[in-house]
Amino acid sequence: MKFLKFTLPLFLICTLTLTAQNSLINPDIENRIESLVQQMTLDEKIGQLHQVSGYNENLKQQIQQGKIGSFLNVKGATATNEIQRIAVEESRLKIPLIFGLDVIHGYRTIFPIPLGEASSWDPDLVERTSAMAAREAAASGIHWTFAPMVDIARDPRWGRIAEGHGEDPYLGSVLAAAKVRGFQGKSLNDPFTIVACPKHYVAYGGAQAGRDYHAVDISINTLREIYLPPFKVAVDAGAGTIMSAFNELNGVPTSANLFTLTQILRNEWGFQGFVVSDWNSIGELLNHGIAATPAEAGIKALLAGVDMDMMGFVYANNLADLEKQGIISEKTIDEAVRRILRIKFQLGLFEHPFINPEFEKTTVLSKENLALARESAQKSIVLLKNDNQLLPLNKNIKSLAVIGPLADNRHDQLGCWHCEGKDIDVVTVLEGIQSKIPTEKIRYTKGCEVQGGSEKEILKAVEIAQNVEAAILVVGESADMSGEAASRSSLDLAGYQKKLVKAVYETGTPTVVVLMNGRPLTIPWIAEKIPAILETWQLGVQSGNAIADVIFGDYNPGGKLPVTFPRTVGQVPIFYNHKNTGRPSGSDKFTSKYLDVPVTPLFPFGYGLSYTKFKFSNLKVTVEKTDDMTKIFAGVEVQNIGDRIGDEIVQLYVQDVVASTTRPVKELKRFRRISLEPNEKKKVEFQLNTNELGFYNQNLEYVVEPGVFKIWVGPSSVQGLEGSFELTDN
Ligand code: NOJ
Repeated sequence: MKFLKFTLPLFLICTLTLTAQNSLINPDIENRIESLVQQMTLDEKIGQLHQVSGYNENLKQQIQQGKIGSFLNVKGATATNEIQRIAVEESRLKIPLIFGLDVIHGYRTIFPIPLGEASSWDPDLVERTSAMAAREAAASGIHWTFAPMVDIARDPRWGRIAEGHGEDPYLGSVLAAAKVRGFQGKSLNDPFTIVACPKHYVAYGGAQAGRDYHAVDISINTLREIYLPPFKVAVDAGAGTIMSAFNELNGVPTSANLFTLTQILRNEWGFQGFVVSDWNSIGELLNHGIAATPAEAGIKALLAGVDMDMMGFVYANNLADLEKQGIISEKTIDEAVRRILRIKFQLGLFEHPFINPEFEKTTVLSKENLALARESAQKSIVLLKNDNQLLPLNKNIKSLAVIGPLADNRHDQLGCWHCEGKDIDVVTVLEGIQSKIPTEKIRYTKGCEVQGGSEKEILKAVEIAQNVEAAILVVGESADMSGEAASRSSLDLAGYQKKLVKAVYETGTPTVVVLMNGRPLTIPWIAEKIPAILETWQLGVQSGNAIADVIFGDYNPGGKLPVTFPRTVGQVPIFYNHKNTGRPSGSDKFTSKYLDVPVTPLFPFGYGLSYTKFKFSNLKVTVEKTDDMTKIFAGVEVQNIGDRIGDEIVQLYVQDVVASTTRPVKELKRFRRISLEPNEKKKVEFQLNTNELGFYNQNLEYVVEPGVFKIWVGPSSVQGLEGSFELTDN
């Protein structure tokens, strides 16, 4: 087997990494760091590595003594300024604190949950919402967000799937980079940018059985091809920090993992920022059973490459003794201190440690922010089904029922990790609909709770549904059913919701199901019977307006699923980029399948409909060679053949047909969201470099092998025009 030359592409990858991360290295700053490190006592150094959650008066003295380097969960310009003042005016070396917070999908203006926003397949949008979140957070005294969450998740039982970008490493990488750019802007020194923290490094989403915090046992190939790429791209984009995770990876907890934290992150990728542990993940090394004492845990974490201890108190309580005993050298501690100080200098905290409280008042929840929240909510909605064009509804409709536990619910639309988001900021679906048609035409009832209910409530819903022209049913999950520590063994609608949907459907009134959820749900009955279905995830403060815009056709939905929807939880893990097996599923009994359910998903990755129709034609694929590079060009024409303006997300997939290790049946390599007027036709051209067609071989070397590749360009992972090209080794 011959390999294509890949020296140049790999060299290129390294250069890119070093360039972006190198911008974190500035000779003046390095000098200032050195001079500070020279002056610091051991206790002051260890203080920089110690992060505490929340402030209370008892901590004042520790700040004055330089024993705390960072806070999380302290927010607001007044509070952060006051605490910062203690650090920069009352501590010996006046080193500023860095304030971190989980600004995951907005600070006060809450945007769609990340899985929802990933459905927009729109990196420009994602960059803008991240920049807006950074602005609000920075105006409120925050310097650092524990985001983006870039864990690939192939198991919807895992509640944290809501916090990331779904199952695909390429889509996940593009959006990870967009978020880093959005949060960090052009310069960390800009007072309205904050430093990003891609998390949870690494493979946290691979938890066995979808159970949060559970062990992860995967091949190094899968680690490198599926779970690492979004982190790599985020590092390339200049991310200043990384969070190590809770999980173990192939027997070594990721918060004590020299291979991932030092060999890969620092040595291979050239990461120059600092690593923070997840909450007490250093202390949890005892539970993992790789450390007998907190001191031992501290040694393992620090030597592996974790610089800051979040709420573990392990470094603060043990490092000084370990240094005195000669077990940990001061040099090792100095290195972690340097990395943390580097980011503090980059943020300009030494020059402007405070934030003007006036900014907070004018920035947070401004009109401009709300307009962006509405745009991102609109773009994140996925139309799953629309038989006989039931949607959009005509605004002249005579009567409309709005039913469901989430129809007039504010809180749950904020989703998990809604930071400073407040229920009162949220527009509900009922309110959104009320702004479109006269209130007297609308009849509302809850029907049931998300996780409970009664026959009586359902009867009331039926009574209402019987007497209207159409019914909107808003069902799904509450905010606390996804996110951290929110794994589920069932992906069905909970409580009385299934009953409610059936009862309303049986009235014969045309029914639209609006789903609000933090993960793919198993809804085979709904998918079969209900004529129109909208997947709206949890869309944040402008949820109701965006959903009403879509229901009445003021916005034509164009989102696509960033994750596969299974038919039943028994199919999990199910993802589009799987391997073929020696016996691909077929009519023969002895092929890879189930006796009781098809192998195909209910809704595939990349899928989503529109109120208009698009036609793909004229796929042209060419391979162009120059002396040192081979490039693949794929062009396609896309035409809007319906009568409404609409967005299509053009997706390009490839398959390496024969290789030295098995390859996925399809891999997403490019996509573009385009907007087309009725009848408008656009040519969409993609360019791929050969180094993007490689994989890790049996020797764990990254190789691009010659041979035939299939290529598809189309509207989802299961449709598209097919072509092929060949890579040769000369
Ligand atoms: C634990 C979570 O795993 C992590 O995502 C978060 O950033 C920290 N807690 C801090 O809140």
